[in-house]
Amino acid sequence: MDRTGQQLALAVVVPVLNEAANVAQLRTRLAAALAEIPHEVIFVDDGSTDGTQGVVEALALGDPSTRLIRRHGRRGLSSAVVEGMCATVAPVVAVIDGDLQHDETILPALYRAIATDGAELAVGTRYGAGGSTGAWDPRRAAISRYATRLAAVVMKTRLSDPLSGFFAIRRDVLLGLVPRLSLVGYKLLLDIVASAGRPLDLAEVPYTFAERSAGESKLDSAVAMDYVELLVEKTVGRWIPAKLVLFSAVGSTGVIVHMAVLALLGLLGADFTAAQAGAVGVAMIYNFTLNNRLTYRDRRLTGAAWWTGLASFIVLCSIGAFANVGVGSFIYDLSGGGWVLGGLAGIAVGTVWNFVATSWLTWRRR
Ligand code: GDD
Ligand code: MN
Repeated sequence: MDRTGQQLALAVVVPVLNEAANVAQLRTRLAAALAEIPHEVIFVDDGSTDGTQGVVEALALGDPSTRLIRRHGRRGLSSAVVEGMCATVAPVVAVIDGDLQHDETILPALYRAIATDGAELAVGTRYGAGGSTGAWDPRRAAISRYATRLAAVVMKTRLSDPLSGFFAIRRDVLLGLVPRLSLVGYKLLLDIVASAGRPLDLAEVPYTFAERSAGESKLDSAVAMDYVELLVEKTVGRWIPAKLVLFSAVGSTGVIVHMAVLALLGLLGADFTAAQAGAVGVAMIYNFTLNNRLTYRDRRLTGAAWWTGLASFIVLCSIGAFANVGVGSFIYDLSGGGWVLGGLAGIAVGTVWNFVATSWLTWRRR
């Protein structure tokens, strides 16, 4: 019960990263929109450097319904939101961006869709009748539409806006799903829907996406890779770790590099073992660079760590390369001189070793 003797009905989670110029106004707008609904607002900050935490603290000092969760080290939007949702006892939890781009006046409708009308999940949609992406540049609008269609095909969702970052959910439903969520990247809603294993009772409420007036978007190219990884994880992830899929995808483009170098060295007159060893060396540097950018973008090595990372990758992959060249030569002999067969057999054994060893040592989780 709060001071008015009412039970807490709704928690609004606001993920924030450098939103100092927006949070106070958002809190005021939320108070106005939610005057009829006993609520709390939980800001989840991942180490803002622009004073966001101080602004939220000042708000929270005079108002027990405003709270701040501080996390150390940026760990991503989805996990920030879930952490906020797990930190409340309100029966309905909602998420809204901290940059005033979501229209907070539909929050009561999202809340009532659940509390009164019995939905499990209520989503603010930019694509339903009456909703809009607002003044987006054509490129961003096109990317968003494309990603939405991709989600519809891969995940078979019925959501008109599966990439929405603005929704409410029954807390017990969310809690039941938490152990199954991937929490990769930005797409929490898609993660929730894909992890549910059954169609959730769904409501949609249209709104118009506003322009950002202060601060900047944190959506970058890494976010696009997060999206690819989430789709991989939610489709084949049950059988194979998503990172192994990405590692192998990088590796298979590495195979092309490898076989080209192998062929070149062969043409230059090298014997098989020497040519295979040379090809492995070139492919190793290529694979390290690409995996560091894509597969392990969440633990990307830079500066001095890039060089020690490359060194450890080369050492580990050299062990893999020994197995690779050994198995390759063995199969080469066995098949009576099959260059392609020998090359591919070596790569298969090498890849599994390389993935396991480098995920432990080169890109160790800190
Ligand atoms: N705690 C935390 N940690 N907050 C973050 C992080 C993070 O790593 N990254 C972003 N945020 C906060 C921002 O401060 C903002 O309040 C909110 O999350 C959304 O981030 P933006 O960077 O403004 O995202 P956007 O406007 O480009 O994307 C929005 O629209 C997408 C639809 O195209 C978001 O609502 C997305 O969820 C949505 O998919
Ligand atoms: Mn935004």
